[in-house]
Amino acid sequence: MFDIAILGFGTVGSGVMEVIEKNSDMISQSAAQEIRVKYIVDVRDFTGNPYESLIVKDFSVVENDPDVKVVVETIGGAGVAYDFTRRSLLKGKSVVTSNKELVATHGYELTQIAREKGVNYLFEASVGGGIPIIRPITQCLAANKINEIYGILNGTTNYILTEMVKNGVAFANALREAQEKGYAEQNPDADIKGHDVCRKICILSALCFGRHVYPQHVETEGIEAVTLDDISYAGRIGYRVKLLGRAIHMEGDKIAVYVAPHLVREDNLIASVEGVMNGIIVRGNAIGDVMFYGAGAGKLPTASAVVADIIDAAKHVNARKWLSWQDGGPELIYDVGLLE
Ligand code: HSE
Repeated sequence: MFDIAILGFGTVGSGVMEVIEKNSDMISQSAAQEIRVKYIVDVRDFTGNPYESLIVKDFSVVENDPDVKVVVETIGGAGVAYDFTRRSLLKGKSVVTSNKELVATHGYELTQIAREKGVNYLFEASVGGGIPIIRPITQCLAANKINEIYGILNGTTNYILTEMVKNGVAFANALREAQEKGYAEQNPDADIKGHDVCRKICILSALCFGRHVYPQHVETEGIEAVTLDDISYAGRIGYRVKLLGRAIHMEGDKIAVYVAPHLVREDNLIASVEGVMNGIIVRGNAIGDVMFYGAGAGKLPTASAVVADIIDAAKHVNARKWLSWQDGGPELIYDVGLLE
């Protein structure tokens, strides 16, 4: 029996529970033991909820239970989530998360603590929802020098842009639909203003280029200023408007990292990524271009990546330390243009 605790029982946290229950046979087989959710930490009222008996309001119950080997942090943000993650790692528990804000702001420190404690800090779900991207970069593409990584990293804004271009839906209505479908952040400004993409490209940059890139240093523009006229003009000249996060290795220690709406030529694969889907292209010096595509947001796709990390942690408790990079960021330059 492998005991875990889920912190935060919102969209992703409840999705994790759903996937664990739905696929329990296969998950037990993959993890070589049964995964049991022993606690759910959430301060809200869960009276009458089927999981009421698992709910605890006090994180120290989890912190001080030696049976809990993995803490699944789906609270979000960099406040209490940071405190609980740090304390879990310091107690020798692995932490699995979908929290891109926390990884982007404190990932360097948290991976160092995990390394020192010989446990895992895993965050496959933090970028691209259910798409495997963290592991492929750090393992499958490890023989490459990465020259560039770019892509559509936010399902909500891609859904909005797609609805605008395909169905002429007004911005506000498309946003409301994305919220109803559970794609948007609690405060959708993080989607619309590009902050969510910024956090994700920071995480990818750290993994690709080996140095922490802090979100506040990255030029970020969202889609607020994009109009139906822009979209229809772009279409007439053979381009699609897409919000991209982009990181390019320049000469020496310089990398260009930025987030901005781009004109993407219609024959670029990224142009055909529609709706909530994300698409990420990694350009390595041995493999060339490789593209990752799939559901970039949503309850079960995100939970799919979280549960994969839980299985990984269960199989390799106290044995994996492969996610790390240096602090003291690279020199950043701002560069923006068309994507041919
Ligand atoms: N709000 C995010 C998105 C959720 O729309 O992509 C997944 O990170």
